Amino acid sequence: MCGIVGYIGKKNSLPILIKGLKRLEYRGYDSAGVAYIKDNNIKIVKTVGKINNLDKLLNYNDESFIGIGHTRWATHGSVDTTNSHPHQAGSITIVHNGILENYQELKEILTNKGYTFKSDTDTEVLCAYIDYEYNQTKNILDALNNCMKVFEGSYATAIMVKDIPNKLFVMKKDSPLVIGIGEQENYIASDISAYADETSAYIILEDMEIGQIEKDNISIYKNKKEIKYNIEQVEQDAFDSDKNNYEHYMLKEISEQENLMDKLNNIYLKNLDKIMDISKYNKIHIIGCGTAYHAGMIGKYLIENYSDFEVNTYIASEYRYQKIFADDKTLVIAASQSGETADTLACIKKVKKYGCKTLGIVNVKNSSIARAVDEVIYTEAGQEVAVASTKAYSSQVYIFSLLALKLGITKGLINKNEINKEYEKLPSYIKELTNYDYEDIISKIWQAKDVFYLGRGIDYISMLEGSLKLKEISYVHSEAYQAGELKHGTISLIEKDTPIIALISDETIALKTISNIKEVKARGAYVVLLIKEDLNINIDKECYDKIIEINATDNLLQPILNVIPLQLIAYNIAKKRGCDIDKPRNLAKSVTVE
Ligand code: M6R
Repeated sequence: MCGIVGYIGKKNSLPILIKGLKRLEYRGYDSAGVAYIKDNNIKIVKTVGKINNLDKLLNYNDESFIGIGHTRWATHGSVDTTNSHPHQAGSITIVHNGILENYQELKEILTNKGYTFKSDTDTEVLCAYIDYEYNQTKNILDALNNCMKVFEGSYATAIMVKDIPNKLFVMKKDSPLVIGIGEQENYIASDISAYADETSAYIILEDMEIGQIEKDNISIYKNKKEIKYNIEQVEQDAFDSDKNNYEHYMLKEISEQENLMDKLNNIYLKNLDKIMDISKYNKIHIIGCGTAYHAGMIGKYLIENYSDFEVNTYIASEYRYQKIFADDKTLVIAASQSGETADTLACIKKVKKYGCKTLGIVNVKNSSIARAVDEVIYTEAGQEVAVASTKAYSSQVYIFSLLALKLGITKGLINKNEINKEYEKLPSYIKELTNYDYEDIISKIWQAKDVFYLGRGIDYISMLEGSLKLKEISYVHSEAYQAGELKHGTISLIEKDTPIIALISDETIALKTISNIKEVKARGAYVVLLIKEDLNINIDKECYDKIIEINATDNLLQPILNVIPLQLIAYNIAKKRGCDIDKPRNLAKSVTVE
């Protein structure tokens, strides 16, 4: 949430700040702003809306060699120019990503000392408190160090100090921040994707560290002492943010799932040693948020059904505060695309206190979760730009299938040779499903107010994901239900032409789901039936309006195929409704606040 950037060096900072902000726009896009030094004065330009709005307001003739910038996802205070960053108090100007939890208390202290506030934000308080400490200590490093002892919550902050015009400062706790290293120039960013084409090396700031950044020097401090830092190398091919002629990143990323499966087969299927042996644990907990949680729930079904081992899945924002039953024989698996989700990261920190072993299924290399876990399996999906997660989900499900496969083989429950053939067929099946013409279905349901998704067992989990995709990008209300549960209340909402999307891929309970579909059909619903081809059952043509046959693979892999039509139905409905598909309202790609 929120992206911050900074630059100090030999070039005009404004185009560099804007470029970085555009790349970090996935982190929030309510409003944006920059601060830069021109003729010894700090100038601030900020506005509501996306970075393009800010871009139009900037005077690029205003040459400046030092500046900071921000793209906002509002947490405190409405979306308006006053609440947007940068904020300024006395000598201090800052941009901030995170939440200062004790800001009310600090605001009161500062108000009593004569500070006044223009905005409703926690950030302005954070800024004023730094100014207050700076006035007391007359030394910015001491001031920041003192602030860190007082601040509660999370912050990644880039700071300009009026009377130190040749340095930028950063400090961080529980929100990500990196420093890109250039030649006679240095960069600040929430993540290195902002400047991956400008620098080949970067420093990851750790919690409670302070950075002092000059154009030709970087010093990192912790507890008032200068410390050594590691230099990471930028993986250039990790950041492919080109849309490649696709209308939207989401469509591009849906299409990429075909080649991704091939890539994953080459990396992992052919080398199962890279997949953790989970057989030595007594318990497995899987945690994640949103789509990653859904992938984890599929993981639970796969490991339970194919390797006969009980698994529990939890939403990370709940797990971090609930009573848990875990010890050093418990494996906690965290699924996360960004590797930065605050709740998921907090769970990892929590379970370490219980002695648990932790495994991350993560997409972004070197991200906070990837660094926090004991072992990581990268999902190798490449940069996912669209807020709605697609290829990250299927790659997470893929990795879960391999955890189940490896355990199943160890236990003698799965025949590896037979299943290998199915993995190899995944790319061609995905290609067929992405090329399918969904228009007929879309034209019938795109104007609906509510859409219901039905499935049983593991199919219900796929429907949770399908329903989330639809809500997220098209703003159509939808719910996923276990097919047998509808008649316990929700069926009262079904009326003539209410769209129902139903999935049947598990033959053992297919007839039960069909009975439930008949119940909604009898009440006038418009039923789109997604069904695994070759199921050995008779389906009465009366019970659906449209049918999509999904290629049949082994049940271990079927969820990877089942989600493709669901992603495309959501995408096409959102497109027809004219929604901003890649940047849906109120959302951000990386959720670094709780
Ligand atoms: O980066 P993560 O995978 O940890 O993110 C978790 C969720 O915020 C994310 O999956 C979210 O639900 C997606 N926008 C859904 O498409």
